[in-house]
Amino acid sequence: MRMTDLIAKKRDGERLTTEEIQWMIRGYVAGEIPDYQMSALCMAILFRGMDDAEILDLTMSMMHSGETLDLSPIRGVKADKHSTGGVGDKTSLVLCPMVAACGAKIAKMSGRGLGHTGGTIDKLESFPGFVTGISEERFFENVNRIGLAIAGQTAEVCPADKKLYALRDVTGTVPSIPLIVSSIMSKKLAAGADVIVLDVKCGSGAFMKTAEQARELAEGLTRVGRLAGRKCAAVITDMDEPLGFAVGNALEVKEAIDVLAGRTEAGELLELCLTLGSFMLSLGGLAADEEDARAKLKATIADGSALGKLAAMVEAQYGDPRAVYDTSLLPAASVTREVPSEASGYVAHIEAEDVGLVSMHLGGGRATKESAIDLAVGVVLKKKVGDRVEAGESLGTIHASDAQKAAEAAALLQKCYTLSAAPVEKAPFIKGVVR
Ligand code: URA
Repeated sequence: MRMTDLIAKKRDGERLTTEEIQWMIRGYVAGEIPDYQMSALCMAILFRGMDDAEILDLTMSMMHSGETLDLSPIRGVKADKHSTGGVGDKTSLVLCPMVAACGAKIAKMSGRGLGHTGGTIDKLESFPGFVTGISEERFFENVNRIGLAIAGQTAEVCPADKKLYALRDVTGTVPSIPLIVSSIMSKKLAAGADVIVLDVKCGSGAFMKTAEQARELAEGLTRVGRLAGRKCAAVITDMDEPLGFAVGNALEVKEAIDVLAGRTEAGELLELCLTLGSFMLSLGGLAADEEDARAKLKATIADGSALGKLAAMVEAQYGDPRAVYDTSLLPAASVTREVPSEASGYVAHIEAEDVGLVSMHLGGGRATKESAIDLAVGVVLKKKVGDRVEAGESLGTIHASDAQKAAEAAALLQKCYTLSAAPVEKAPFIKGVVR
């Protein structure tokens, strides 16, 4: 086989065979196919697309390029969740304990934050002593005993995706649905769950900017998941403003705990967790239907069992579980500063990506994979889209390590807000579901 022939085939709109796709991924990981040829193929895929069988072949070839997790030592229904990445997205911290409290088994591999988006692994490290790099044996033991473990991704999962994603990032080939689907699903399938739910973000803070693109991606992801023999559903959610109120690691953990403890009003974060969780439980046969699942999930907040699951997981991963019940034990910034609105009006838009960058400016995010982060810093928004704000009233609170950084971040946060003189009708948060 010759890579030039495969590039020409795809350039001319033909389909690639299973053997061709397997050969190409194997050759690329082995270093036998150079980056320039793989870039050309990615660009041809971006323009010509792939059918479902090709996407499945690509996904499976990428999945088999590295280790896959065999979850058979875990008893029960294994469920997993994936988000395409957003700002203030602490969904896993709320959802996983709730679903585990309903009897599902969550053996979750999560990533660290990069750029303006955060990662669950960094957030969990806000619990003093928490270890994300536990052994496989302990990981399985914890899931069997507690129902829940969240560990860092190992380097051995999907090396083809690591290499290909880095190449796509510098060749303008990230926004290709077949390439995104195979990238996400190869990792999710490698993680071994029977039930996979996907949260596809849509809007200015997401890489799918329109509802049509997000739906196409959500349908592609669930189709490939089902073709691979897993139970799959997806939710398309708004990322035209950050999710919830807090952006920053320990601040997001505190918000998640407040939701699990039933201390906050039922907002979008809880609604998202109830929707994703109801798919996980009903697809996994742990609830009669989605309505029954929602009732079971809500009960885990009312009876404290979801919070108990979080505390048990923190303890089993060597963290201090007291922080779950007393959030003053989480890392806290030395300086806080309110951010006054410069004008009166209604909040029309909050640029999510820029709020993520404010947190990054404060030291809460990474510019490169190697950067150290400050878990305590970030932003807690007080005004969200649709809210009325008066001039001088606080838009949010900056949590910083020094006064200079707090002042700079305050000026940046003001710029994230767009106000309107007329009342603003908030668009629905859940833009669609794919069952
Ligand atoms: N996230 C991934 O893991 N892969 C992509 O291609 C895009 C987003």
